[in-house]
Amino acid sequence: MPHFLQETDLPRSALPGLFALARDLKRRRGRKGPRPLEGQTWALIFSKSSTRTRVSFEVGLHELGARPLFLNRNDIQLGRGESIEDTARVLSRFVHGLIVRTFDHQDVVRLAAAGTVPVINALTDLLHPCQIYADAFTLAERWTRGTSGAALFGSLRGRKIAFLGDAACNVANSWILGGNLFGMKVALAGPKTFAPTPAVDALLREAGLPGGYTFTTDPYEAVRDADVVYTDVWVSMGKEEETRARRRQMAPYAVTPKLFAAARPDAFFLHCLPAHPGEEVSPEVLASPRSLIFDEAENRLHIQKAILTRLAAGRR
Ligand code: CP
Repeated sequence: MPHFLQETDLPRSALPGLFALARDLKRRRGRKGPRPLEGQTWALIFSKSSTRTRVSFEVGLHELGARPLFLNRNDIQLGRGESIEDTARVLSRFVHGLIVRTFDHQDVVRLAAAGTVPVINALTDLLHPCQIYADAFTLAERWTRGTSGAALFGSLRGRKIAFLGDAACNVANSWILGGNLFGMKVALAGPKTFAPTPAVDALLREAGLPGGYTFTTDPYEAVRDADVVYTDVWVSMGKEEETRARRRQMAPYAVTPKLFAAARPDAFFLHCLPAHPGEEVSPEVLASPRSLIFDEAENRLHIQKAILTRLAAGRR
């Protein structure tokens, strides 16, 4: 059963085709497009708040012909202690796929192992793979003059992304894994206590990727020659009690106009959103013509429709 739990669940060889499909779906939007999920129902099991992920999946499923069924974890028996395995077995009898946003990454692994339908990771504390695919597609759209999927995907190779702030968060982990899969250089900067963890090194090893990334406490070193500057909120969902300490430690890593100017002159700015203007990023950088934050949000829809299409095809 194909699943999409982490970036490397799709082989590199599949990515040019995936990007080409996402671009095709984007161009055809509003006109009659393919409906490979016609008549299906997919459940979204969410344990955390969401705007982009929930809406892009619900709209995407609808456009592909499927019915989205949103289940807040606390509205189903999972929230009252029913096991993950029984939840997976029961839901597999009703729906054609599960899209899951939760805390512990092992929850999505266990759902995938126990169920008989595809599972998509819509964010865990470890990884946010749909986000990173949307980010990469957004960059490829800007960097490609060619029209093929190979040109789109190939435009990422050798580019440098600098991630600033909490370098141990799920988006940073996903950029380490995804950046290596896409052939990019990944540089991270943050406080020493927020350096990438051994868990991400293990993921790289398991995936047979070279493990290429750098970590520094100097934000200017990380952004030097960067083609992309990326940050995320300093206080991820579930870490609210650490707010004051995190704000204090991460202040030097805020993406200010001065720090952004230390990257390449044509560098783009990305943020997975929601942002806290004036905290991890200045309002001027968010509003810069080189800020792609809303393209990035929109592309969640198109790349996820491509992923859903591919998973649906893998079931046949
Ligand atoms: N970037 C992202 O996952 O946004 P939401 O939390 O709104 O889904």
